[in-house]
Amino acid sequence: KAEAVVRELEERCSTPAGKLRQVADAMTVEMHAGLASEGGSKLKMLISYVDNLPTGDENGLFYALDLGGTNFRVMRVQLGGKEGRVAKQEFAEVSIPPHLMTGTSHELFDFIAAELAKFVATEGEGFHLSHGRQRELGFTFSFPVRQTSISSGTLIKWTKGFSIDDTVGEDVVAELTKAMERQGLDMRVSALVNDTIGTLAGGRYTDKDVVVAVILGTGSNAAYVERAHAIPKWHGLLPKSGEMVINMEWGNFRSSHLPLTEYDQAMDTESLNPGEQIFEKLVSGMYLGDIVRRVLLRMAEEAAFFGDTVPPKLRIPFVFRTPDMSAMHHDHSPDLKIVGNKLKNILGITNTSLKTRKTIIEICDIVAARGARLAAAGIYGVLKKMGRDTIIRDGEKQKTVVAVDGGLYEHYTFYRECLHSTMIELLGEGVSDTVILEHSNDGSGTGAALLAASHSQYLDVDE
Ligand code: BG6
Ligand code: GLC
Repeated sequence: KAEAVVRELEERCSTPAGKLRQVADAMTVEMHAGLASEGGSKLKMLISYVDNLPTGDENGLFYALDLGGTNFRVMRVQLGGKEGRVAKQEFAEVSIPPHLMTGTSHELFDFIAAELAKFVATEGEGFHLSHGRQRELGFTFSFPVRQTSISSGTLIKWTKGFSIDDTVGEDVVAELTKAMERQGLDMRVSALVNDTIGTLAGGRYTDKDVVVAVILGTGSNAAYVERAHAIPKWHGLLPKSGEMVINMEWGNFRSSHLPLTEYDQAMDTESLNPGEQIFEKLVSGMYLGDIVRRVLLRMAEEAAFFGDTVPPKLRIPFVFRTPDMSAMHHDHSPDLKIVGNKLKNILGITNTSLKTRKTIIEICDIVAARGARLAAAGIYGVLKKMGRDTIIRDGEKQKTVVAVDGGLYEHYTFYRECLHSTMIELLGEGVSDTVILEHSNDGSGTGAALLAASHSQYLDVDE
């Protein structure tokens, strides 16, 4: 009986190349629809107001604040122009107390501003603010925002583990600015960016071929450089560069081609955002572990997989986290000791047989491979839309770099390798040489600071 559950899961989660191509094509179709009109698609294809990526000329002291991943981060960087580049950089990382993720807007922003103020107070040697100037900040806010300018925008909805009603519809820069004032911190937000946009900007700073950024972490999303005249819903001035960076919010993508199971459906129904972020719930770190937990629960209930009683902890949503899943999945010891220990420590399940442990690894394999392969299909869809799924474009050989960041990609080796091999499978050997996935470690912090620099209130003075 347990075996039957696994075989059924395997079948429902299967993602042969043909299916992935259908997913990629559906992604491309939705991208067009989302660019055509507001509300034209599940893909919001948000206009970032970033029409120029970093050049290397950026200069001065800038701060960055990053909210939306597992941890909340603050950073300062001294930029030294073409020669100096990043002269000095310092970080601090704080985990967000879980109650703040579902509390009030006021409390969350006060917490962030207070941490930022503490960090600013430690500014020391190597950082230099020109006399009489106000400190400036790039704010990475990794949720869907309808931007009204490069430095303002209203929250459309929360995603991932956040749900705070009174922030929805508010300008998040105004919220942060008020909180900073309450902390007595004099700072101006000069750029509001999504983490994908930050990663794209940070990636471009070090590599001019970066044109796409993908986050595979707690949540998942992508941003890319679009031609401005290919955005019918953009009624503003045509940017000089002719380009506009688009935050796809691909986490909200859905398609009848996605291989959804009863476990996904149940997880979605019980989530903070039912019916939303369906693609994200298949591919990202917040959810993979919980899908595995649901499969194990069914096997415990229907096939006495863990003995006569159902382990009570197995019923708790999100107790089994993706980092635990990853640790089990990479257990290469002969008796699968790590799997045994995790089962004991997290789920209170003792004395599991080797066969049971092997079956659990198989489930991790199925769930992680489905996620990684679908993420690859998403990237392939974006490359197709950009005309970068071929070696030659406009008679010239092109190189394409995709900057990727996020804990899932960074730490889950099986997932990362599966993503890479699936890209080769989809692109074909020849093209896969010219498309490179590059890990951009915390590029989004640097990227936000760089965009703060290129949108500084003192730019005219400096020029
Ligand atoms: C970080 C980026 O490295 O990855 C963040 O700097 C981003 O901006 C984060 O939000 C996502 O990863 P995770 O795994 O923390 O959700
Ligand atoms: C979620 C957010 C999105 C973010 C992504 C990765 O999908 O909605 O804005 O980029 O997570 O952090």
